[in-house]
Amino acid sequence: MSGLSAALVQALHAVVGDAGLIRDAERMQTYLSDWRNAYRGCAALVLRPASTEEVAAVVRLCAEAGVALVPQGGNTGLCGGSIPDDSGEQVVLSLTRMTAIREVDTGNETITVEAGVILQRLQEAAAEVGRLFPLSLGAEGSCTVGGNLATNAGGTAVLRYGNMRELTLGLEVVLPDGRIWHGLRGLRKDNTGYDLKQLFIGAEGTLGIITAAVLKLYPAPRSCNTAWVALADVAAAISLIGRMRQLCGDRLTGFELMSRQSLDFVVRHVPGCNDPFAQVHPWYVLIELSDTQVDAGLDALLESGLGEAFEEGLVVDAVIASSEAQVAALWALREGISEAQNHEGPSLKHDISVPVSCIPAFIETTDQALLAYLPGVRIVAYGHVGDGNLHYNLSKPPGYADADFKDQQAALMQIIYDATARCAGSISAEHGLGQAKREAAEHYKDPLERELMRTIKQALDPQGLMNPGKVL
Ligand code: FAD
Ligand code: MLT
Ligand code: ZN
Repeated sequence: MSGLSAALVQALHAVVGDAGLIRDAERMQTYLSDWRNAYRGCAALVLRPASTEEVAAVVRLCAEAGVALVPQGGNTGLCGGSIPDDSGEQVVLSLTRMTAIREVDTGNETITVEAGVILQRLQEAAAEVGRLFPLSLGAEGSCTVGGNLATNAGGTAVLRYGNMRELTLGLEVVLPDGRIWHGLRGLRKDNTGYDLKQLFIGAEGTLGIITAAVLKLYPAPRSCNTAWVALADVAAAISLIGRMRQLCGDRLTGFELMSRQSLDFVVRHVPGCNDPFAQVHPWYVLIELSDTQVDAGLDALLESGLGEAFEEGLVVDAVIASSEAQVAALWALREGISEAQNHEGPSLKHDISVPVSCIPAFIETTDQALLAYLPGVRIVAYGHVGDGNLHYNLSKPPGYADADFKDQQAALMQIIYDATARCAGSISAEHGLGQAKREAAEHYKDPLERELMRTIKQALDPQGLMNPGKVL
């Protein structure tokens, strides 16, 4: 039962109505744990406001009563940022009823959407006017624009288009005291002081509630070529991306690395996924080229780039997709890794980044250190290699107990984060800190940067009611 006063619950109900307030324990469950069941919490209530004004009113009421809020979008986050603590006193604020596409301005190449719009719906709305909204990630059928903004989401197209920070021109935010910041400007240039929207992007809901955004649109690609390439080692992937960048420039829109272990899991667990090659190889990359012209000569570019790389021994084998179905099948191998790994017991997820040139040495030395510490541990390394961003995930050794693996979690994380720090890298390149990496950030993030972050938090949220226990 909620620890909130009856008067507060009544006032909140008056704002959001029956459709916007959930108190029933069973109906609240989906808001209280993540899809992997890695995080679980309790809540006094779930609120689902349907407009910015309703968000502002409920935030004001909660601020007056000193009640903490946990913003939530599609709840696809991977570090527990959208899950309340276990006190039962926090309120989950779900933005999933705010699904309006407020404006499409093709002249300005922008789209204005509310925070609860599902990413895939946003991509479709852009396509309907012959444009591209380039953010693309495995959870795009469920994650929301608000969550994408709050985590500064990345994904598979960052190489060409950048992450959510770079795709955003304006924001509307409900501040921790309930005031609305109307920052929905569609300007590409604005030098009138601090760029405030960047404070809220990547803040994981700790500074305010994002209710809407003005986002950039791009010309839709009209041709696209995809290849699946086998490599002998990771160093070959780094050489190959350099070569393909030189050759293709901005037409290189995807370059994803995958280890054999990652592919093994996908082939084992994701129905319809098959290894494109008869032989086993240690590493693979998925390469995508795209262009706004129909006859852009992408076939020839891909063939010549891969042909030369093959001659030089960089590439061991390659297949170029010749139909839409083959393109989808190759991407399914990449996008299936998260789900596949989930079938192998508890996973330790990472999204570290290091300078691209350091990736081969990072993988070699960290693999050795992990296997020395826990023989048989399965290293599921893959990711957005052109961004220096690796999902250096771990699954337990075969036959190892789940509980024993969880007991090793802290030590395994330390091995990976120490190696990342030695490369001057980041412990989180795209998923954020949430509750999973909050303590680690205390250790690995620069003390002055942490102090500045706390100063900003104190200035905007002096009561500490916005997603407490996350990030800081
Ligand atoms: P949630 O999980 O609901 O919330 C995430 C964080 O944002 C929480 O801290 C929450 O409090 C806060 N938040 C949510 N909405 C708001 C709001 N309106 N205002 C303020 N704060 C808010 N991420 C990547 O970056 N790149 C990937 O390639 C990628 N691939 C993924 C693949 C799979 C299969 C899965 C399951 C996840 C993947 N993710 C990836 C992680 C996740 O999908 C992203 O972090 C996504 O942006 C989260 O969106 P969401 O709506 O689900 O947010
Ligand atoms: C991905 O790129 O597939 C995700 O960000 C990584 C993950 O699910 O661990
Ligand atoms: Zn990723």
